[in-house]
Amino acid sequence: MATLTPAAREIPSFPAPSYGTKGYLPPASISSLDELIAHLRDIFASPEVDIDLVQAVLRSYKSNPADWKKFAKFDEYRYTRNLVDEGNGKYNLMLLCWGEGHGSPIHDHADAHCFMKILQGGLSEVRFEWPEKPEGQVDEDENHSMKETSRCDLSLNGVCYMSDALGLHRVENPSHTQPAVSLHLYSPPFSACSMFDQRTGHETKCKVTFWSKYGEKVNNTSSPPPQPSNGVVSLSAD
Ligand SMILES: [Fe+2]
Repeated sequence: MATLTPAAREIPSFPAPSYGTKGYLPPASISSLDELIAHLRDIFASPEVDIDLVQAVLRSYKSNPADWKKFAKFDEYRYTRNLVDEGNGKYNLMLLCWGEGHGSPIHDHADAHCFMKILQGGLSEVRFEWPEKPEGQVDEDENHSMKETSRCDLSLNGVCYMSDALGLHRVENPSHTQPAVSLHLYSPPFSACSMFDQRTGHETKCKVTFWSKYGEKVNNTSSPPPQPSNGVVSLSAD
């Protein structure tokens, strides 16, 4: 059987912009996913991340399925996480592929910056406050439903930013007829986060995995435990 351990992608070089300079304006347009990746690598070479600049650069790229279709791998039952670029260790860039009606659990982002851009279809995002944890007492009824704070619908090429400081969220493809594809950047990369039960606020630690890397299906040799959503694996099955 062929090994499915892909090598890191080679990204063509583009004229280097000077990020990290106050007042630098992002390019008006970015013509390809590879060019976008080159800009992102340059931005994240700086020790400080300019959130507005990252969002502006993501907006400057207009989705072209020819750029990213080789990374777009769907599963019949759950959304998938597909690694596109490791960003020299500073971030993970990935495609999330959402079948009709697929959604994530409510989750945090492990203290990372989270950027999201719609490449195909549309997604709905619902945000929540962090659940309050009763301190110094037994939580007998565990009936602490989570408080919703906002809802928004993201359409093609829309961009948004999320972090733990802004709360928790759930993302879903509300369409029952059209799949959706989104581009996500997480910095720094993380391999574990938490998901939350909306009715009780109960937190479950999870590790996150990839369905594919660089366009190749990941060859998982062991059987993972039941997955609440694809690529999000419960570590505490109690
Ligand atoms: Fe998220």
